[in-house]
Amino acid sequence: MGYSIAIDGPAGAGKSTVAKLVAKEKGFAYVDTGAMYRGLAVHFLQEGILPEETDKIAASCKDAEVNIAYEGGVQQIYLNGRNITAKLREEAVGNMASVSSAIPQVRAKLLEVQRTLAREKDVVMDGRDIGTNVLPNADVKVYLTASIDTRAKRRYDELTEKGIPCVYEEIAADIAERDKRDMEREIAPLRQATDAVLVDSSDMTISQVVQAILELCR
Ligand code: DC
Repeated sequence: MGYSIAIDGPAGAGKSTVAKLVAKEKGFAYVDTGAMYRGLAVHFLQEGILPEETDKIAASCKDAEVNIAYEGGVQQIYLNGRNITAKLREEAVGNMASVSSAIPQVRAKLLEVQRTLAREKDVVMDGRDIGTNVLPNADVKVYLTASIDTRAKRRYDELTEKGIPCVYEEIAADIAERDKRDMEREIAPLRQATDAVLVDSSDMTISQVVQAILELCR
């Protein structure tokens, strides 16, 4: 078992930005488990399955192999041998990932891949259930959150900067809906592990959050 840092929290709290920087500082591998759920979601969408077709999603899991690789230090996601990293951030993929991640077969499939990675390497792993379920014995556990308002503003600025038209109220409503779905699902819901340290990034810079996590590792 390698050294492991688990970072969980709701969508838009800054987990991946922070986890990447912590991984770089420590020389650990960064494992973005949300990207794995998104990778499986790409498969379901390619099969023409709709988010509400739970049985089809469960059955279709066996035909999908999701792998993580690092190219130039950047994480790439492969679906059945094809690099599909460019598709992961699409809105439909995020939505399918959020819905399909509540299905037991989907979670079981990825749980094994995630635990194997943590056995083989020192990792910073981020997601929703890392500290509670995937790596209950992680060396450091962080629950990173921020207010809905802060998260929606960050997303709004990110999209606006890219020239993508968006409506703040819609973004905030989407985030609230995703939080609810992630927190209320029956298996491995998003919650703070009892031994995780709560970090609210609403009034913190990225660098302050990174430093706080590195401090926990000392
Ligand atoms: O972090 P993200 O937005 O890329 O994650 C996409 C979806 O995957 C998210 O809505 C919930 C799900 N997910 C999960 O259920 N468990 C994880 N460990 C990571 C993500």
